[in-house]
Amino acid sequence: MPAPSSPSFCASSIIGTGSYMPDKVLTNDDLSKIVDTSDEWITSRTGIKERRIAAEGQATSDLAAEAARRAMENAGVSAEEIKLIIVATVTPDMFFPSTACFVQKKLGAVNAVCFDISAACSGFLYALQVARHFINTGNRTTALVIGAEKLSSLINWKDRNTCVLFGDGAGAVVLRKAAASESDAPGRVLSTVMGTDGTLADVLKVPGGGSSCPITAENVESRPNTIHMEGRETFKHAVTRMLEASQQALEMAGLSASDVSLVIPHQANARIISAIAERLNLPPERVFMNLDKYGNTSAATIPVALDEANKAGRLKPGDVVLLVAFGGGFTWASSVVRW
Ligand code: ACO
Repeated sequence: MPAPSSPSFCASSIIGTGSYMPDKVLTNDDLSKIVDTSDEWITSRTGIKERRIAAEGQATSDLAAEAARRAMENAGVSAEEIKLIIVATVTPDMFFPSTACFVQKKLGAVNAVCFDISAACSGFLYALQVARHFINTGNRTTALVIGAEKLSSLINWKDRNTCVLFGDGAGAVVLRKAAASESDAPGRVLSTVMGTDGTLADVLKVPGGGSSCPITAENVESRPNTIHMEGRETFKHAVTRMLEASQQALEMAGLSASDVSLVIPHQANARIISAIAERLNLPPERVFMNLDKYGNTSAATIPVALDEANKAGRLKPGDVVLLVAFGGGFTWASSVVRW
């Protein structure tokens, strides 16, 4: 696939990061008491040791709003300055209003236009690109881009193939237009590529609960409103697409893998991440991983990891940061950021 040509974007920069992970920890040993699994199996196949589970009554918008508050504090912007809120999620509070509307209310971000994006684990990078377009073409110059999930609400706790993989959490960034004179502004997003292959939509999905298969008294027992995944097929496509997208985003930014200071990949499986790092020739110290603590939090993995890398001092001014994701749809995306 040829690399898409770079649109002429004005500079938009990540000026603050934040994340929020629920307190409750669910370990592999805890799961082995619910389904026929073991810490050894989960750790060796996925790299995951534990994940966080939202408290009862805590909705996706609660996680999102807390992550957003922390990102706004980090950026030093007030709620009134936010002109756009995009929440990437596959676990919205409800079908409508959008989760972003609830986040707006919780933050008091009265000047923001708010909507959600559904692109599974690629959702945050899709949302980042949409926000860049808004910043590029309009007067919505300060945006909150949030990835937030309560995947525990979509899990079939009797299915060992999936219940061990996922967790809850939220991450956010504040994205702001930089003045033309600030084309080297810190946190500048240099490029983004995105892709979709809907012919593989059935490989990873929540088949029930929507308009094609409403939940009824007859089908509720078979749990169609939970995650269904062909793991091996997903794995194969994830490696290929994430590698391809990374190379394209770097090419679009006029860079190569050897320029990358830190890659922050979607946190689904340590083996997927290692395969990509190996093919990009990146040593482990230039690859960020926190999936051992949180599992796969879908749209939240990248902004949470970005925030942790930021707060841990792993991002230095001028560093080239490669973000890359893959998810249900299939969808994939990659962005290059100059920190
Ligand atoms: N504990 C113990 N055994 C298990 C478990 C478990 N939790 N889950 C499955 N098994 C068994 C299977 O039943 C199977 O047994 P069998 O051989 O007797 O039939 C055996 O383990 C092997 O199963 P596979 O599915 O072939 O195992 P695999 O090595 O492929 O690992 C996994 C499974 C971890 C799901 C892997 O395929 C994977 O990570 N796929 C990608 C998933 C992913 O990245 N999803 C998210 C991307 S998109 C998004 O984030 C929404």
